[in-house]
Amino acid sequence: MSRIALITGGARGIGAAIATALAHDGCDIAIADLPTSDTSAITHSISQLGRQCLVCTGDVSRASDWQQWLATIDQHYGRLDIIVNNAGISGPIAAITDYPDEAFDQVMAINCTGVFLGIKYGAKAMLAYGNGGNIVNISSNAGLGGSPQIIGYSTSKHAVIGLTKSAAKGFATQGIRVNAVCPAPTDTEMVHQLERLAGADIARQRLTAGTPMGRYGQPHEIAAAVVFLASPAASFVTGAILPVDGGSVA
Ligand SMILES: NC(=O)c1ccc[n+]([C@@H]2O[C@H](COP(=O)([O-])OP(=O)(O)OC[C@H]3O[C@@H](n4cnc5c(N)ncnc54)[C@H](O)[C@@H]3O)[C@@H](O)[C@H]2O)c1
Repeated sequence: MSRIALITGGARGIGAAIATALAHDGCDIAIADLPTSDTSAITHSISQLGRQCLVCTGDVSRASDWQQWLATIDQHYGRLDIIVNNAGISGPIAAITDYPDEAFDQVMAINCTGVFLGIKYGAKAMLAYGNGGNIVNISSNAGLGGSPQIIGYSTSKHAVIGLTKSAAKGFATQGIRVNAVCPAPTDTEMVHQLERLAGADIARQRLTAGTPMGRYGQPHEIAAAVVFLASPAASFVTGAILPVDGGSVA
């Protein structure tokens, strides 16, 4: 029987690369993304690999949407093996003293509460199926060190690491492994937005200044780490915080 993988924010970018890589690894897929997101390209890619792709719409920061997605996955697939909590937003770039209060709340709701809800409701479903499971959370290199211009983002990504470590210990004897990946700036719409604000060359120089390899990561390079962590090859790995960052933390 195929493993079933749910990827939040799977419509594009790193999430789409993860969905494709997991489908390539033999999983059937469920994508959860905003109702406004275009999922046609990713559903086409998954079907080209001979795998199913179920599309769920909603907002990761709403518990009722998680409950609906998990009910839909239960009806469609009747099992759930992997959850990748990938959906996230960067929020504004501003000095701490200018950072808008409501933006801080929104970034925390999507990047932190969204991951909490995914772990809470996803693990409940996995425990009920009784097959164990894997949860992989997408943090960031901004979750490993302070970034004063993006305080909401950096704070939320540090919180993802706390959620990962706590959940890993909580489920360690229950067959559910919980790990996190910390990418350095990666070539997706999230950094393309910054390139449009600052100019492509300036943004690339700033964003890769702390990356010894001197380039953006590619989404498939992040996805490869997720596939490993979610696979039986990582059967003794839980609570790991894996940088995929061209040497940034070296
Ligand atoms: N691109 C980078 O440089 C980089 C670096 C480190 C970490 N990350 C993290 O990787 C993850 C994916 O980033 P990306 O670069 O692919 O971004 P992206 O903006 O290209 O894609 C994000 C996806 O998440 C979806 N999404 C956003 N808010 C949502 C919500 N509330 N509910 C459901 N879906 C929602 C979007 O619609 C989109 O499909 C994020 O958590 C991001 O913080 C990205």
